[in-house]
Amino acid sequence: MVVIRGKDDVVRVLSRVCPHRGMDVNPTEFGRPAKGNARFLLCPYHFWSYDLDGRCKGAPEMQKAAGFNRKDVGLPAFRSEVWNGFIFVTFAGDIPPCLRCTTTWAKSLRNSSSAILKSSRAGMGTARSTGK
Ligand code: FES
Repeated sequence: MVVIRGKDDVVRVLSRVCPHRGMDVNPTEFGRPAKGNARFLLCPYHFWSYDLDGRCKGAPEMQKAAGFNRKDVGLPAFRSEVWNGFIFVTFAGDIPPCLRCTTTWAKSLRNSSSAILKSSRAGMGTARSTGK
């Protein structure tokens, strides 16, 4: 998976598996950084490129392949949700969003993250009021 904030400011969690031949589109073994900024993703195997929303931008030499349309391929997006600074990812399409989730762990997480946010905001307020 790769987590990307797109040009549209939307956070997406995309598959890193190139739909061409299954190469990792961001392998650190090839010197790619594990984090940072990118304008697009480029598969190092045959140089298919992908926009930050997963759409295929380019597929060299594939214009010669009968029936190929780059709009039919891309990096799949996993269902994700950003909540209070956390990014939740699921492969299940039938569970409720985090804000509506009523499981014990979700309630616990909501309570603890609220406490963390309150204490961090309180700390920020103190730092501002003292001018530090
Ligand atoms: S495996 Fe990615 S471009 Fe071929």
